[in-house]
Parts: sequence; C-alpha cells; structure tokens
Amino acid sequence: MTTNLAKPKIFVARQIFPEGLERLRAVAEVDYNDQTAPLSPSDLSIRLAHVDGALVTGSEKIDAQTLGQAARLKIVSNIAVGFNNFDIQLLTEKNIFATNTPDVLTDTTADMGFLLLMAAARRLSESEHWLRAGHWKNWSLGGMMGVDIHHSTIGIMGMGRIGQAIATRALAFGMTVIYYNRRRLPEEIETVCQARYVSKEELLKTADHVMLVMPYVPENHHFIAKKELALMKPTATLVNIARGGIVDENALIHALQHQQIFSAGLDVYEGEPNIYPGLLDVPNIVLAPHIGSATKKTRLAMMHLAIDNLLAGLNQQRPPHLINSELWK
Ligand code: GLV
Repeated sequence: MTTNLAKPKIFVARQIFPEGLERLRAVAEVDYNDQTAPLSPSDLSIRLAHVDGALVTGSEKIDAQTLGQAARLKIVSNIAVGFNNFDIQLLTEKNIFATNTPDVLTDTTADMGFLLLMAAARRLSESEHWLRAGHWKNWSLGGMMGVDIHHSTIGIMGMGRIGQAIATRALAFGMTVIYYNRRRLPEEIETVCQARYVSKEELLKTADHVMLVMPYVPENHHFIAKKELALMKPTATLVNIARGGIVDENALIHALQHQQIFSAGLDVYEGEPNIYPGLLDVPNIVLAPHIGSATKKTRLAMMHLAIDNLLAGLNQQRPPHLINSELWK
C-alpha cells in the first residue's frame, strides 16, 4: 500500500547551512532563497503566499505587508531569540505560530557582551587603529589609558537569560552587579547572580559599565537617550548587544564626543546594516556587525532549533519555543 500524503511547503528566506536544508528537503517541498541578503517586503510576501511554513531571520519583517497574501501559512520560525521583526498580535489573530531560538545562544551572546565591555573599557579598537596607522613610537606611562573592569560595578539593563549569564561572568571579575528589569527577579536568581535590583536612574548614576540586554519592545525605543547619557559617569562605558533602536545613536555620538561617557561598544544599530552618520568617526567606540551569537556551534544550534520549531508546528505538535503560546490549546 502506498500513502500519498502531500508534503508541506516551506519557504527558507535566507541562506542556511547545508545540513539544515537536507533536513527540510527530506520532509517538505522547499522554496529556498539561497542569498545572504534579505528579500524586499514585496518579494517576501509573494514567497510566503503559497507555503505552510517559513524559516526566517531577524532581518525579515513579518507584518501586515508580508503576510498579506499568506493564506495557508501555519508557522513562522525565527532563527533568532529576539522577535521584534514579528507582528505577534497579527500572527496570533491569523492563527499562525511564531517561534524563536532562546537558550542555545545565551552563553555565546553573553561572551560577546563581555568582549565589547572589555574592548570599550580598555580602548582596544582605538589603540589597534592607532598602532596600525604607525603612530606607536614609544611606550608611555600615560598612553592609551582605559578604565578598570575588575572590582567595578556593572549595571545590567534587562536581566533575562543573557543578562544573568553576563552577571555570572562579572562575578568572576570581582564586580558588583546591579540590575534593572521590567520585573524584579525571584530571590533565588538574585542570589545566584549576587545582583541588586535598582531603579533605571540609580543604575545609570552608579554603574561603571552599563550593559543593555533588554528586548526591543515599543516602550524601549530610545530607552538610552540624551537624558539617560547625562546621568552616567564620565568614566562609564555603555554596551548594547540587544537591538539598535534601544539607543538614540545621535545622542550617543554627542556624549562620546564630549566625554560625557568614557566609551561604548555596539553590536547592533537602529538602521542596520546602515550605520548612523558620524558613528564611524567617533574614536572611543567599538563597533561589531551584529555578531553576538556568531560562532559556528551556536549558529548551527540556532538553525536546528528553528527547524525543530518549524517541523513540530507543521506536524501539529507544540513547537519547543512557541512565542504566541495562547494558540496552543
Ligand atoms: C540576535 O540578535 C538574536 O536575536 O538572536
């Protein structure tokens, strides 16, 4: 006896690793955009029109425009932990599962946060550029002085999984940990992280290093702007590994140029991959191209987890990381 069940149709919006494509092709009909650049919203909406599931990245906006023709879509699986590219309310209204890839990238991203903190505090980018430009003639007592990381105070804004992983790294450096979060954490977690809950204002005034790890929800747009930067110490660093729109980049440039804060480290940008005019001309900043989770092991794990989510949803099983969990009755 032969069974003749039609395979589900899947759209893969961006280039993925071959082993992921193999997994998908074994069970589904795959429309594959093998490019590293994202499609335009109108092309994306055409490709979503005739599929049951889609594998996308944080660069694909899944909203009214791109979902406009998606009559049979059941699940959109993001290869990212952040999901500000999804209109969750609309996906839920349309009965479409939305999923993401938490946990597997926590430690890799926390490492990146710490890397940017250390590089910004110790002026690593600035001194390397200076060395490469041939300016290094002598060792000098007062040359390229930074600010200390060990035994200083770190202020973590957004104390989820990644924020907590940064806190445990900070403890190994003898740092004092303070944090601000929408909700205060349970006492057990505060104890593990040896973290003290403070107001946003107290954190900005007290921290030697401010680390942004919060989700980019509308109320966090320009959460760090002129007023917040003015509260920070002139010796403080600011690191953003969350989303670009959380920091007002124009205000940040001004604060760095006028030594209102010591330095900054950014992995994310409001208009990425476009960089805000003037940011590249500021010396006391370390800039990375959104590589927080970029190790082979972690990116592979993210891809496989996103595929697990996608295939579960298509098989009418609960995806391991369902965002709009109200759809699962
Ligand atoms: C990367 O920014 C992610 O959200 O996974």
